[in-house]
Amino acid sequence: MPTHQIAVLPGDGIGKEVMPQAVNSLHAAAEADGTFQLETQTFPWGAEYFLESGEFMPANGLDILRQFDAILFTAAGHPDVTDFRSSWEFVFVIRKQFKQYANIRPVKSYDGVPTLLTAPDRIDMVIVRENSEGEYAGPGGVVHADWDNGVALQTSVFTRAGIERIAHYAFRLARERRGKVTNITKSNAMLHSLVYWDRVIEEVSQQYPDIDYGIMLVDAATMKFVQNPAFFDVIVTTNQFGDILSDLGGAMVGSVGLSPSGNVNPERNFPSMYEPVHGSAPDIAGQGIANPIGTILSGALMLKDLGQPAAAQRIQDAVASVLKAGLKTRDLRGTNSTSEMGEAITAAVRNGE
Ligand code: NAI
Ligand code: MG
Repeated sequence: MPTHQIAVLPGDGIGKEVMPQAVNSLHAAAEADGTFQLETQTFPWGAEYFLESGEFMPANGLDILRQFDAILFTAAGHPDVTDFRSSWEFVFVIRKQFKQYANIRPVKSYDGVPTLLTAPDRIDMVIVRENSEGEYAGPGGVVHADWDNGVALQTSVFTRAGIERIAHYAFRLARERRGKVTNITKSNAMLHSLVYWDRVIEEVSQQYPDIDYGIMLVDAATMKFVQNPAFFDVIVTTNQFGDILSDLGGAMVGSVGLSPSGNVNPERNFPSMYEPVHGSAPDIAGQGIANPIGTILSGALMLKDLGQPAAAQRIQDAVASVLKAGLKTRDLRGTNSTSEMGEAITAAVRNGE
């Protein structure tokens, strides 16, 4: 029987509360499935670890993580630690060093959770966000900051290799879904970078004649999200647009607490990392009221990529049935606690609901 080794990183804030629920649901799914085993090992790394030790993870942290098949993470961030340090010295280090260039963000509505929209349509799309370059590539600098002639430059980076590989990922994913890819861009204004982005994706699209491919400008796309979300199946978009659109998607389906994501290395030469879209939510940390579903569904994405689609589906079905039955944490305007929600989902995983 294959055994998948999982590194578990609860991170900070509500991560410590929601992660145990996600780990329980994963073990229940593996037991119920019966065709594979899961071994999990937890590491306490993140911003709170930094406050105690002076580093976000040990110097050999990446070497440790590399030995696992996948990583399940919640979020890093603490009010006493500058946010960009948690990002650039921890989360982005893992994403970049492990070449997790595809950020997969499903956006799905559920029976039992009212969406923000008037349209009765089901929402079921996947945002494929370029995760390694684009607007967040990093080059730039600030000169004369304190003077009248202060200048800040931040350069976007778009490479043919980077665009081609994310486009291929999106087209392959569309073949498993409803066969449609929408490239969300802004090539009317970004006349160098995003005109090139469109050109390379268009070239890749010709290798997928079975896929319905189209282009939409990001400003128009924000309206379309709200007015007709059923239009979208797979979205391929840049690092920054994907960041913003996926928070919009999370809010649309009722709460950002429901949204999972994967930072995927499709070549599998490094472990991929799965994490909810939300952060460490220090405003509600320690109260036992956070919604664990974002992390639980991230675990399901992880199982699917590990080659366990039946066990992944078991978790997704359990989440849908518990939401349909009316359980709601506070972000969904309910009163159920983190553990009530998590335990109900784990029970539904066991019972195959
Ligand atoms: P956030 O997502 O943590 O919180 C935004 C709002 O949503 C808050 O009101 C929070 O209470 C609520 N919320 C978030 N997740 C929830 C859940 N599971 N259940 C119920 N309510 C939930 O975003 P914010 O406040 O901008 O960031 C807080 C910290 O998290 C910061 O330090 C930030 O840098 C960090 N962060 C880390 C990320 C990562 O490690 N990948 C991603 C996003 C933020
Ligand atoms: Mg974000």
